[in-house]
Amino acid sequence: MISTLLSRLRRGPDGAPAPRLAFGADYNPEQWPREVWEEDVRLMREAGVNVVSVGIFSWARLQPGPDAWDFGWLDDVMDLLHHNGVGVDLATATASPPPWLSAAHPEILPVTDRGETLWPGARQHWRPTSPVFREYALRLVRELATRYAGHPALVAWHVNNELGCHNVYDYSDDAARAFRVWLRGRYATLDALNHAWGTAFWSQRYSDWEQILPPRLAASHPNPTQQLDFKRFSSDALKDHLRAEREILRELTPDVPVTTNFMVMPGTKGMNYADWAAEVDFVANDHYVVPSPRDRDELSFSANLTSGIAGGRPWFLMEHSTSAVNWQPVNLAKKPGELARDSLTHVAHGADAVCFFQWRQSAAGAEKYHSAMVPHAGADSDLFRAVTALGDTLKTLAPVAGAEREPAEVGILFDWESWWASEQDSHPTSLLDYHREALDWYSALLTLGIRADVVPTGADLSRHRVVIAPVLHLVPAELAKDLTRYAEQGGHLVTTYFSGIVDENDHVWLGGYPGALRDLLGIRIEEFGPLAAGETVELDGAGTGGLWTDRISVTAPETEVLAHYRSGVQAGRPAVTRRPAGRGSAAYVSTRLGAEGLASLLPRLLEPAGVTSDLPAEARGRVEATVRRGPGGRFLFLVNRTDETVTVPGLTGEVLVGDAGEEGAVVLAGRGVAVLRTPTD
Ligand code: GAL
Repeated sequence: MISTLLSRLRRGPDGAPAPRLAFGADYNPEQWPREVWEEDVRLMREAGVNVVSVGIFSWARLQPGPDAWDFGWLDDVMDLLHHNGVGVDLATATASPPPWLSAAHPEILPVTDRGETLWPGARQHWRPTSPVFREYALRLVRELATRYAGHPALVAWHVNNELGCHNVYDYSDDAARAFRVWLRGRYATLDALNHAWGTAFWSQRYSDWEQILPPRLAASHPNPTQQLDFKRFSSDALKDHLRAEREILRELTPDVPVTTNFMVMPGTKGMNYADWAAEVDFVANDHYVVPSPRDRDELSFSANLTSGIAGGRPWFLMEHSTSAVNWQPVNLAKKPGELARDSLTHVAHGADAVCFFQWRQSAAGAEKYHSAMVPHAGADSDLFRAVTALGDTLKTLAPVAGAEREPAEVGILFDWESWWASEQDSHPTSLLDYHREALDWYSALLTLGIRADVVPTGADLSRHRVVIAPVLHLVPAELAKDLTRYAEQGGHLVTTYFSGIVDENDHVWLGGYPGALRDLLGIRIEEFGPLAAGETVELDGAGTGGLWTDRISVTAPETEVLAHYRSGVQAGRPAVTRRPAGRGSAAYVSTRLGAEGLASLLPRLLEPAGVTSDLPAEARGRVEATVRRGPGGRFLFLVNRTDETVTVPGLTGEVLVGDAGEEGAVVLAGRGVAVLRTPTD
């Protein structure tokens, strides 16, 4: 639990009592001479920093050779931080193997699907399945855990770093061996594997396990189930590494919580974090804004989904940036107010810690132009002043620590297996973007001022009156039953094109689409109608569709057609349907409407559930509202999504952050955030 970490954070030099929110960064003192460390801790105190992650890329420094160890500098760093009231989330330092290791054992290096080696020179050049790498990594973990087990600065363990960031897919011979072991575990017999992989197709039948390989570069599309299983396996291989390190840490320091930083972002789909969450003592996430017209919706979506993965419990924002990053084509600086707004949006969605990459901006190396809490300009800078102001705000928000998210009426189901399966090759369209569709629905709800929880498959859906399951492509029989039960018991399910199409083996449910959900939805589709790039179709009063259409026949008399196609090949046929099912309903949207189109359709989809915005009209779309509830009270977070001042009237509660206006109004400056507390009964 993150509360274990928070309670291990000592009273800070400012005397602020626990519980409090954690605030800090990755700290890389090995990049700096000793004198700078003294200034570091002085500035950390000034900024209110109370936790830092140390040692993430320190392997070469800690172990200069196979049998040489150098912990002296880290001892000093740990002591110094402790004396200054800063807790340490200590990394196991296994993320970047040192040159002596890769030189002696090039067989730890990852290999691409084309057989190219990923050489050392950057970081994360290791195979998740390499027994040699594993042995060296675990030896380091054991040394570190033994040495620092009783150190008073230690508040948590940070396994590796962003597992899979650069090495999720490895096609080496080690991977091939491990893949076979994994497949034997899943299928037990070759017959079962041959069935699941549909190897009757293209003469792919295996007669010996040794014939099976990762889906390396092939003459044409590799077997789709092999590809899907390789994705599952690759996520599991990294999870296995996480577990292996964690087991040593639990053995040697059973009271210290263990985490690793996830990256819940559109570009990091290889790691099934919903599945990994049970392996850590608290969920930690890294998030970076990738500029786009809806980039802050994506930030909110990521924070929201992280909360869903954490089961609504508080989580740890391990990294984000104070301003520009270094790895985009153009690295935009954050505008005034964005540093605080981005941070507090994460807190609004359950983060009990706000940390950055990194504390002090590097003078050398690949990330020297990446922003940090202390920029190249030094502490006399607007950026450091903004950091210090954020530290003060987080102190004010101390009572929020430990508060869970209050469930929203609407849930958006996010399903890793559907993400993987729906975007594979040789499909009706290569333009489908699973994450984007889910984000469109989320943005549309933000536009309407309606709170939604993003939840992974397996979460308790009965907490939500409406469940939106965009592109729920892979639906095993059990999930179809759960969704049917959900609707029959009064829930309102909304799903979209290319949902309910395949089972867990990526085999099509036969008899007409959307096979697994056909009866529940009361429709039948004989043929998909994907649209050419840029092609659009008009719907009756429900906007413009792109990407996809379906040739829908209504099969149940009670199915209503909420919108028809007005143009295109399907003109006159249903585009959006809803079937009353038991005490609830099941609706289907057969095209991509985008955030704007969905915002105009959603009120009709939400109507049977009676879900509307609880924000005053002035604030809808301009302000995002979230609620956390805990021992310290009920906290309403209001995040101004715009650059203009927004006044939100009619609020009750104590204004912890933000400006109280007249008669219960709160005035939010452009990009501003307010937090109100009301007592809980
Ligand atoms: C993360 C990583 C950090 C740093 C950061 C830069 O992926 O964990 O070490 O590289 O990105 O944005």
